[in-house]
Amino acid sequence: MSKGLFISFEGIDGSGKTTQLELLRQRLEAEGRSVVAVREPGGSPVAERIREVLLDASIDGLNPVAEAFLYGAARAQLVAEVISPALDKGSIVIADRYLDSTLAYQGYGRGLDKGFLNQLNQMAVSGTIPHLTILLDLSPAEGAVRRRGTVPDRLEQEGLAFQERVRRGYLALSCQQPERIKVVNAAQLPEKVHEEIIYLVTTYLKP
Ligand SMILES: Nc1ncnc2c1ncn2[C@@H]1O[C@H](COP(=O)(O)OP(=O)(O)OP(=O)(O)O)[C@@H](O)[C@H]1O
Ligand SMILES: [Mg+2]
Repeated sequence: MSKGLFISFEGIDGSGKTTQLELLRQRLEAEGRSVVAVREPGGSPVAERIREVLLDASIDGLNPVAEAFLYGAARAQLVAEVISPALDKGSIVIADRYLDSTLAYQGYGRGLDKGFLNQLNQMAVSGTIPHLTILLDLSPAEGAVRRRGTVPDRLEQEGLAFQERVRRGYLALSCQQPERIKVVNAAQLPEKVHEEIIYLVTTYLKP
């Protein structure tokens, strides 16, 4: 792969991905580094349009395979249009969700075939795999408490049992790829979580 550094954040809904991505972005930018932050699904004009469909709570009966393809389509566009060019320029790309979300949610959560999802992911990212993936691990009950008061989107309406399967799926993925996927206890104070993330990221930073 290219000159840049690619870091993704993963974890169940409410685990603190967006919070920690922002803290990391600020920290890296304060050091004068070029940072490109993206969110999934979305992060490019076409992919944001696909995001609207995926998160629309009024859509009932989206077929799980169709859903997986939509995620794949949004990801392929994001990689081609934003992530790959930024890495070529030597930027640090930080992603709020990436390919592991597909396996955790569509695979472990919904029970779709993991071979199919792996193939879909490979097609979508064409070799652009994160150097480091930070898995923010939190219990679904805690995640629900944190998000209380916000209107649940289509996926958040799935309930705690679904989130539990997703959490276990993420942990299984981290066992399968321990070099890339690092688990951080997300139940700690945000500053403490950030500190642990900085420790992990520092290993990958060029001086
Ligand atoms: N370590 C923490 N301790 C307590 N509350 C936190 C912590 N980190 C984030 N929060 C709060 O929990 C809520 C969810 O955090 P955040 O939006 O960062 O999670 P997320 O993983 O991005 O969620 P989603 O998957 O829904 O996008 C926010 O209100 C945030 O302020
Ligand atoms: Mg978020």
